[in-house]
Amino acid sequence: MPETTAREQKLLQYLNEAHGKEEELVTALQAHLAMTTRPAYRKRLEEHLAETRAQSRNLERRIAQLGGSVDQGVVTEVAETAQAVASRALSLAKGQLHALRGTGEAEKMLKNAKTEYFNEHEEIATYLAIETLAEALGDDDTARLAREHRRQEERMAAFLERQIPVLTKAVVTEEIPPRERRPAGQTRTVRSRSRVTGSGGAGGAKRGAGGAGAKRGSGGAKSAGAAGGSGRTRPRAGATRARTRSAS
Ligand SMILES: [Fe+2]
Repeated sequence: MPETTAREQKLLQYLNEAHGKEEELVTALQAHLAMTTRPAYRKRLEEHLAETRAQSRNLERRIAQLGGSVDQGVVTEVAETAQAVASRALSLAKGQLHALRGTGEAEKMLKNAKTEYFNEHEEIATYLAIETLAEALGDDDTARLAREHRRQEERMAAFLERQIPVLTKAVVTEEIPPRERRPAGQTRTVRSRSRVTGSGGAGGAKRGAGGAGAKRGSGGAKSAGAAGGSGRTRPRAGATRARTRSAS
């Protein structure tokens, strides 16, 4: 292997770390896709899987242009390679483990979405560091690539931020009987309604745009039906609660 400078070594090290993470996420996203039944969420996961594969290829290309290779890093060559292998194995195991998550279908998807949200933010941090390093070293091509990838991760994180409340509400529909969706003895008041909608804060509008209604319609039909089965035991204030459910 030809001699590399400290500058090249550091760039290659960071690009290799990003590449390892992208490869790990290809495996995780594939596992999550196999468990995702909601059409809008599924479509976005498929798009991000394609994006992630492209990011991995972009990184391989840039690493090659800088004279490195993805499987043999530089100074930390041995450690990095071992880490990449371990990380891929762990990712595979995690993917299999994720299939066992949660008590219901919606909760599995919610747990996956939370993991994806975490991963997106790790990637955002990784690309921000690469972008800054490359700018500091005057490597415009690497900085541009890192910026492009960071923006893709930010868009996916923003999607997940809208999706997590949608999936959480689906867990409620799927797993909590209508009569238990308010504290015992409490009827819905104007104050509690504003608290619920108000909790969205700045995210409220986005959340609405996330299509809570549409998504619930697609994934929630079956579970809503199941929940409806317990409607016979609805207590005195059932009419109020039914309105609550359809309005939320
Ligand atoms: Fe990525």
